[in-house]
Amino acid sequence: MNEASFIPKTPYEDSYWPSHGSIGFQAPSNIALVKYWGKHGLQLPMNASLSFTLGRCHTQTVLSFSKKEKGAVDFDVFLNGTKTPSFAPKIQVFFERIEPYVPFLKSFRFVIETHNSFPHSSGIASSASGMGALAMCLVAMEQRLQGSTTTKLSIEALQKASFLARLGSGSAARSIEGPLVVWGKHAAIEKSSDLYGTVYPYEVHPNFENYQDAILLVDTGVKQVSSTVGHGLMQGHPYADQRFRQANDHLGKLVPILRSGDLESFVAIVESEALSLHAMMLTSQPYFVLMQPNTLEIINRIWVYRRETGVQVCFTLDAGANVHVLYPENEKESVQKFIASELEPFCKEGKYILDHAGLGAQRLLP
Ligand code: PMV
Repeated sequence: MNEASFIPKTPYEDSYWPSHGSIGFQAPSNIALVKYWGKHGLQLPMNASLSFTLGRCHTQTVLSFSKKEKGAVDFDVFLNGTKTPSFAPKIQVFFERIEPYVPFLKSFRFVIETHNSFPHSSGIASSASGMGALAMCLVAMEQRLQGSTTTKLSIEALQKASFLARLGSGSAARSIEGPLVVWGKHAAIEKSSDLYGTVYPYEVHPNFENYQDAILLVDTGVKQVSSTVGHGLMQGHPYADQRFRQANDHLGKLVPILRSGDLESFVAIVESEALSLHAMMLTSQPYFVLMQPNTLEIINRIWVYRRETGVQVCFTLDAGANVHVLYPENEKESVQKFIASELEPFCKEGKYILDHAGLGAQRLLP
């Protein structure tokens, strides 16, 4: 597969196109176990990454379209029913990037109505789930314009949705399927690709089934460093090459760990990945500290709890201060008690979200 394989082969028969319609999809957020940080070309990753797709944190998008004369891309975007022009520049760039692969884009006017299951001001990035949901709507629309009457999307269509979503936000490539998705070519993972995410193809031990993720909201403000700036800081970063090697090495090591259910080794890699991601930001030019005092309090308490109870609960972080607490389903009761009593006081307004690994995007309508 290369980029050209995503350009539709058969020209669309546009006289048959519906003059208007709507398509709706829900796409999940995801949490990386092996982090993507650093890119090249058009949203291509410098290393392979692996994530759990989330079950509860998602974006729901309805894409309404009406036929127009071919011209510039034309759309309005609404978040929770309110027109949100601040989202438009990112979508404009996205539409321009994907136009070669979605040639009907300029022949319709679009209204994009989007809702997140998590509060917008939670500090949880909505770009992965948002781009995932929009990409799913577009491939479903393409399938309809090509005359297909089925609402089921083919494997090729899911691959294309991931490919398109990636062009909007790299990590969105991992927001189409679940529960474990690899993005980025890796020698140990068959069929892995830099162009799109693929479902992790090997045996996964029951220890990792329905893995739990409690998202502790430490900082609910605007991101201190945008992803675009953050990825950019890896260019010329003194530790970049070692970091890309480390991430690929971690992913290779996770294959036997996921198979055997070795939670201790899993924890060691996942936490190292989170801290290495932040280490890159601590050592870039300019440099950033994205953790906050409460992030460190939470990490320390997780370590004490793990040491004292032997429960293999661990943390991971995105490019911000919030903490994802990861734990096996069979430890749910005790870990959730621990979170409520010991970690909640460090969350902004005591807020956290109990989530778990999920299965991927779903059609909402028609
Ligand atoms: O998809 P982006 O460009 O917002 O990058 C996200 C990067 C991290 O969330 C920090 C790590 C990851 O792999 O998801």
